[in-house]
Amino acid sequence: MPSFKNTANVAQAFEPSSAKARPAYPQENYYIDQPAAPGAYLGPIDSTAHDSDKIPLLFQPFTVKDLTIPNRIVVAPMCMYSSKDGFFTNFHLVSIGSFAVNGAGLILQEATAVQANGRISPGCAGLWDDAQVHKLKEIVDFVHAQGGKIGIQLAHAGRKASAQAPYTDHAEADFWRDNVVAPSGGAHLQWDRHHVVPRELSIEEIQETIEAFGAAAARAARAGMDTVEIHGAHGYLIHNFLSPLTNQRTDKYGGSLENRARFLLEVIHAVRSNFPAEKPIFLRISASDMVEEVVDGPSWEIEQTIQVAQWVRDAGVDVLHVSTGGNTAQQKIKAAPGYMVPFAERIKKEVPGLAIVAVGIILDGKAAEGILENEKADLVAAGRTFLRHPNFALNAARELNVKAAMSQQYSRGRTIHG
Ligand SMILES: Cc1cc2nc3c(=O)[nH]c(=O)nc-3n(C[C@H](O)[C@H](O)[C@H](O)COP(=O)(O)O)c2cc1C
Repeated sequence: MPSFKNTANVAQAFEPSSAKARPAYPQENYYIDQPAAPGAYLGPIDSTAHDSDKIPLLFQPFTVKDLTIPNRIVVAPMCMYSSKDGFFTNFHLVSIGSFAVNGAGLILQEATAVQANGRISPGCAGLWDDAQVHKLKEIVDFVHAQGGKIGIQLAHAGRKASAQAPYTDHAEADFWRDNVVAPSGGAHLQWDRHHVVPRELSIEEIQETIEAFGAAAARAARAGMDTVEIHGAHGYLIHNFLSPLTNQRTDKYGGSLENRARFLLEVIHAVRSNFPAEKPIFLRISASDMVEEVVDGPSWEIEQTIQVAQWVRDAGVDVLHVSTGGNTAQQKIKAAPGYMVPFAERIKKEVPGLAIVAVGIILDGKAAEGILENEKADLVAAGRTFLRHPNFALNAARELNVKAAMSQQYSRGRTIHG
């Protein structure tokens, strides 16, 4: 009869395998050559079709600084609420990896907090600690091995931090309800009753947050990221500073447009100085608070976005990713296919020298191609479409009579229809 006299052995025998040290075997990261990046243009599927000699804009490469992507299709950043203590996990490796295998031109990883209290929820990703680089590098290496390109969105959730994550009931101790920060605090600035009352950041804390953006950018560079996207949209900290609805400060970070944009411009400076100069920087912005119909006083609107877009271009932002809303629960948004594209189009026309990404219910290849053909944007991003169809780029290619490269491992899936 087996007996376990030594209690230490008993504990070891029942230790879950995940708690043991992972075996070190170099074969774990086995990669094969990808002669062309998945999603790259190889030729027409039907060479007799009308216009088959023309390469659709959606499948022409796009270069900004040292980054060249094989097509113009971007995976929009999407929080997966699948992190613990801010660490990326195997879920992210598989999810992001599947977009790379399936030919997305550029993948932007989800809002990733530069400080622990900048997470939207306890389940959100972070990059405030050097230890968080390891898993991120594994994800980046996988995408690169497929021939893909990847960036990460650096974020601070501002007054919308410490919220409940979907799918998971976190323990009360996992939240930081007394440390939710914003440019201005007080009960009148609580997003809604499910969120916390924010407190006002001190000048010293503002400086720490700016430095945290810079440090996270340096970590993203160490992970091998091709770009970083600063999250200035959707009612998170940077947007809280930009909008007069959420910024009621009377010091140099509040009041005039110059003052409200100061935090963003200092964040850009910190990120630019900590990320390789040859790699581009994206900025995501909400072009409008979308409250003109319901709020009488000043809010954040397209004219201010256009002015700030010029400043951020001059400060070193290469690509502007144009979204809307998220700063106040009073917003009125009529979501429909392409509903945010007019904002992207206007900024593209009025602010030369910035590449523009359009996003928002872009459902198929023809719609995406139309946006580029009509010079409304330089790149097209999709979020939910990719959740439904991780192979959205390859589907769009077929729709546009494009034979696009497939990952070698998946190439036997090709049919005569592309
Ligand atoms: C599940 C989910 C998570 C999202 N997380 C983020 C995020 O982390 N950062 C961000 O800027 N936008 C986020 N968004 C917004 C998307 O990036 C995108 O702008 C929005 O969904 C509109 O595009 P779509 O109609 O193609 O989905 C998220 C959207 C979804 C559906």
